[in-house]
Amino acid sequence: MQLKAQVSPLAEVQADWLIVGVWEDEAPAGTVAQLDARLGGVISRLREAKDITGKANELAPLLGRTDVAARRLLIVGLGKRATADRARLHDAAAAAARSVTGKNCQRIALAIPEAAGDLGWADATLAVGVGLMQGCFGPGIRKSEPSRFAPEEVWLVAPPSAPAEEVRQSTRRAEIEGRAVQLARELVNLPPCELYPETFAQRADEVARASGFDCTILDEKQIAAERMGALLGVARGSDRPPRLVVLRYRGSTDGKLLGLVGKGVTFDSGGLSLKTNEQMVDMKCDMAGAAAVLGAFQALAELRLPINVVGIMALVENLPSGHALKLGDVLRVRNGKTIEVLNTDAEGRLILADALSYAVDQKVDHLVDLATLTGACMVALGEQVAGLMGNDDKWCERVLAAAKRAGEQAWPLPMFPHYGDMIKSDVADIKNSTGKRYAGAITAAKLLEQFVGVVPWAHLDIAGPAWAEHESPTRDPGGTGCFVRTLVELARDYGQATAKAGTVR
Ligand code: BES
Ligand code: MN
Ligand code: ZN
Repeated sequence: MQLKAQVSPLAEVQADWLIVGVWEDEAPAGTVAQLDARLGGVISRLREAKDITGKANELAPLLGRTDVAARRLLIVGLGKRATADRARLHDAAAAAARSVTGKNCQRIALAIPEAAGDLGWADATLAVGVGLMQGCFGPGIRKSEPSRFAPEEVWLVAPPSAPAEEVRQSTRRAEIEGRAVQLARELVNLPPCELYPETFAQRADEVARASGFDCTILDEKQIAAERMGALLGVARGSDRPPRLVVLRYRGSTDGKLLGLVGKGVTFDSGGLSLKTNEQMVDMKCDMAGAAAVLGAFQALAELRLPINVVGIMALVENLPSGHALKLGDVLRVRNGKTIEVLNTDAEGRLILADALSYAVDQKVDHLVDLATLTGACMVALGEQVAGLMGNDDKWCERVLAAAKRAGEQAWPLPMFPHYGDMIKSDVADIKNSTGKRYAGAITAAKLLEQFVGVVPWAHLDIAGPAWAEHESPTRDPGGTGCFVRTLVELARDYGQATAKAGTVR
């Protein structure tokens, strides 16, 4: 599938479907009004009759007419114009694309909404472009009869009055970002019999070769040589050996180094602290953090962003067996600290302890980790919002601002020192579980904090947003590809800040 830009009046756009947005609080204007006139005012009459209200994600298919080139039209509600943002445009485009891709079609086109809230042409184009692409793919990657059909060509249409070059560049960015989100979704949706540490690492290597960044894969012997006792401990119960994947992208000859760390538990059974069937059923999603890191690397390399980034994917399966980690075992992390294992289902923090410690040794200047870490975070914030914790308010602010721009939802949780007392162990330096239900997302982050040294670090607990349990009009069930867009946005900001610092020197 290709995403392309075209400058044209809407009536002349050739497509199986032409998707046109309408506002809830304003009558059609500009190119949409011109199209409406060509259609004999049918859109405004339907609006007046309240058959079309313009409420967000409302869909109304119309047959094409001989005086427009498109075979069919799909009117999609965009909500109120003044408050429109990237998330809203993304979702409306996704809803429209989802509704037309249940049948085979060659070519769909969408009119880029004009004057949406504070968004310029670049942001509006990016938002609808990524949203359209998400709406073209469902989770049915192993169905023998496909139930969704991604069109060969997807066109974003700008009016002749729009800045054509800006729209073209933003369309390219949308295509790259859309494919990166789609990669993360696909990885999460792959069955765990296909995606396990070795195959995930191979896939990372393929992506690295195709997109132009370095990929080094550490096998279990090299992981042992690097003293990553906690990662090896979690891996012990599985017949599949663990992998540590190190991604490196150099887009700048100087400047700071950003570190991205992802939890990659390709299946989390809980280990000997076995989950129930209901808790385990979606646990192929427990590698969504690592998937987001790989997706982001694909995008930032293809966008040739002027930054230096190292990515660490800690890949492991958490299973019970005769070799499995036991309750009471003590593991030694790369930095020398010891962790007592009181719950083998709190495995994410164990593997991340080694991965973060390894990242610090790569001399990163700033760190972000992404992990489907705790059910407790979902209790606190629900299914759609990531928890944000860290050791540096300024850095956390920057991550939060990137999420906001990208239209993804994250919310801070406190990291007061007394939470750290809850993970003190009698026999080791710390324990991996408090045994209590209180503040579970925070006590997990407090453990991670022990392994980042003095590096400004932000932790995104994505247990909620990584996986959509049910379908909605704007979104397919399954892997969501969450936080790829935020990471790309953060990387752009990071590159710009570095470049500015460079000119001062
Ligand atoms: N992978 C889970 C967290 C999770 C839960 C992700 C639901 C997505 C949806 C994690 O490894 C886990 O099992 N956490 C435990 C920690 C507890 C044992 C201290 C949890 O949250 O129950
Ligand atoms: Mn677990
Ligand atoms: Zn887990």
